[in-house]
Amino acid sequence: MKNFNFWAPTKILFGKNKVNELADEITQYGRKVLFAYGTGSIRKTGLYDKVAEQLKKAGVEYWELSGIRPNPRLKSVNEGIDICRKNNVDFILAVGGGSVIDCCKAIAAGVPYDGDPWDFTVRKATVKDPLPLGTILTLSATGTEMNGNAVISREDTKEKRALSDDSLRPKFSILDPVLTFSVNKWQTAAGTVDVMSHIFEQYFTPDRGTFVQDAIAEAILRTCLEYGQAALENPENYEARANLMWSSSLALNGLTVTGKMAGDWATHQIEHELSAYNDLTHGAGLAILFPVWMEYVLDERRAFKFAQMARNVFGIVEQNEMKAAEKGIAAVKEFFKSLGMPSSLHEVDIPADNFDHMAEQACKFGPIGVFKRLGKEQVKEILERAK
Ligand code: NZQ
Ligand code: ZN
Repeated sequence: MKNFNFWAPTKILFGKNKVNELADEITQYGRKVLFAYGTGSIRKTGLYDKVAEQLKKAGVEYWELSGIRPNPRLKSVNEGIDICRKNNVDFILAVGGGSVIDCCKAIAAGVPYDGDPWDFTVRKATVKDPLPLGTILTLSATGTEMNGNAVISREDTKEKRALSDDSLRPKFSILDPVLTFSVNKWQTAAGTVDVMSHIFEQYFTPDRGTFVQDAIAEAILRTCLEYGQAALENPENYEARANLMWSSSLALNGLTVTGKMAGDWATHQIEHELSAYNDLTHGAGLAILFPVWMEYVLDERRAFKFAQMARNVFGIVEQNEMKAAEKGIAAVKEFFKSLGMPSSLHEVDIPADNFDHMAEQACKFGPIGVFKRLGKEQVKEILERAK
């Protein structure tokens, strides 16, 4: 196990009606608040009114930014920056799924920065003194509620890129599983795949001797197997929603990659190209790509890790490493299918036309992945196999 620092400072307020504690939290950070949300779900569920009530109770002034779309656009980021600057906003409250929260992180980074906020994503600028932000999570998937990452898209160049800085970790995140009862089947399934994929990215690395991290990772994967289907069958199953929600945060707050060289993240980078071009749901893209990536990188040297997953997560009894690995990958594929997720690009109407450019963009900063390094040609081959 390698040396590491672990720092996950976000205060988590987890459970039923935790939104009622918002006023107390928010007054610790700001008096002028940007209240940001998506395209309408929080109005339908009544969460909007609860948040507004809390903001009034806290006695803060607030401005709204609404209409943040899935795969959030740079345009919304710039809109938010303008509102913050004009009104001297000192705190951002993001209410929604990953898209709303990520958009708010980019706003937080952009307010004190003179240039184009896109610069953060293309390594032209580093985040410095962002506005503090808090979140109320409504969809279990990305882990953004507890990490310092944000993923932003722009339509003009068909790019989707990440920015990342520890200073962007939310000050607090309110996680009430009841708020996810209204998430539809497609997003519930995609969210579950996303959580599992975050684990895969940090589990499939060349490191050895990280037993405890791997055991935590395996427990999160088993949680998704146990409760992913249950949440689809009964969207108001509190236990299922609660377990998925906490898994979402634990899967990408830095915990499972501690003591390791780095996460792999090749599959995420390839998926970001799919959703940049086609506005695809992130988790659906991962459901297509991950089994293909697994089959592509599997060889004698890497079989041990797939075999470990097969045994510890899926309970597969098989002595032979390679056979166990193959069975494990087949089980992942089968599980994603059972959630109603697609398994080929064809099913989501993505043609092969842009594979070349997508592969090039995925490798814009050099080869990707640590479990197996992938260059442009290999990325293209993975896309071809996903057809
Ligand atoms: O816009 P609203 O009305 O909020 O509707 C959303 C949206 O249509 C809806 N929704 C959210 N909560 C709901 C709800 N509908 C009913 N009831 C609720 N309680 O669900 C739809 C999808 O929302 P979105 O926020 O886009 O989903 P998700 O949380 O999966 O976020 C996806 C984005 O996060 C990025 C993805 O690439 C994508 O852009 N990621 C962010 C990461 C990070 N910051 O660490 C890591 C991930 O790997 C990922 O890349
Ligand atoms: Zn993801």
